Amino acid sequence: MSNTVYLNGQYKAVEDATISVMDRGFLFGDGVYEVIPVFGGNLLALDKHLKRLLNSLDRIGLQNPCSRDEWLAIFAELLDTNSGHDRAIYLQVSRGAYVKRDLSVKTPNGEQHPPTVFAMVLQVTPPDLELASAGISVITVDDFRWNACDIKSTSLVANVMLKQQAAEAGMEDAILIKDGGVTEGTASNVFIIKDGVLITPPTSHKLLPGITRDLVIEIAKNNTILVEERDIKEAELYEADEIWMTSSTREIAPVICLNGNAVGRVDSKANGNASSNASSKGVAGEMWKRMMDLYQQHKQTLRQGG
Ligand code: PDD
Repeated sequence: MSNTVYLNGQYKAVEDATISVMDRGFLFGDGVYEVIPVFGGNLLALDKHLKRLLNSLDRIGLQNPCSRDEWLAIFAELLDTNSGHDRAIYLQVSRGAYVKRDLSVKTPNGEQHPPTVFAMVLQVTPPDLELASAGISVITVDDFRWNACDIKSTSLVANVMLKQQAAEAGMEDAILIKDGGVTEGTASNVFIIKDGVLITPPTSHKLLPGITRDLVIEIAKNNTILVEERDIKEAELYEADEIWMTSSTREIAPVICLNGNAVGRVDSKANGNASSNASSKGVAGEMWKRMMDLYQQHKQTLRQGG
């Protein structure tokens, strides 16, 4: 069945939804986006996502093209016409198509040019807990991105390059390092666990203020797990009991191998028949299991409309 998407006031089959080649989103990556998880028809942390969208739009000097109710109507229509179980809303606003290719955002009458507003439903496979507990292997890479990573910008070429660096090293993802400290993942936030304390870098221009990050912190605090929002030195990654990467689509992924070293407790089964130059692997930790369980409970409440 064809996907129905929203584009500039109209609902269309994805094949029929087209934009101008002069769109600044296409030419410059001049736009912002959001990804909002949907469980049982209910949007996860909707207001936080809309607030972050507003912040991203503000930062690039664009007005919010839709009121809260207008956004909700678009999401409702899309969710109605694109059935599924666990899904996510992807939305994007670009500065629109100008007549000339010109970096300047000025228009002849001084008014904002009509933006391009696009939204679609992503089908999400809920993480299989057994599969998720297998964990992921990552490398550390130099975070060469700009100093405005708190904007959820569609200019993602740097993230694509960093993810490719991880893939070329045979790893699933990368933890980004700037000035000797952890910033985030290529499309996720990073937590470490040390002596029962959950530690994550504070929000700043160096990273995206992840909604999943916020939720994990909130769940932890509600369950008397200590949380510290502070800088994490690269060296602390090697001393960590656990490392997690969080995002709306990935939820909470445990890192079991960092630059070829096991994270946390070593998996003797996985490493027993490993050749001498193979990476050693850890296992998903107890804190991860506890948090994943609490996170799934939270999702379940949302599915039931709570
Ligand atoms: N990305 N940091 C970066 C650079 C991200 O791209 C994302 C999410 C996050 C986590 O944010 P959240 O918890 O709100 O999803 C952190 C989305 C999922 C994406 O680009 O598809």
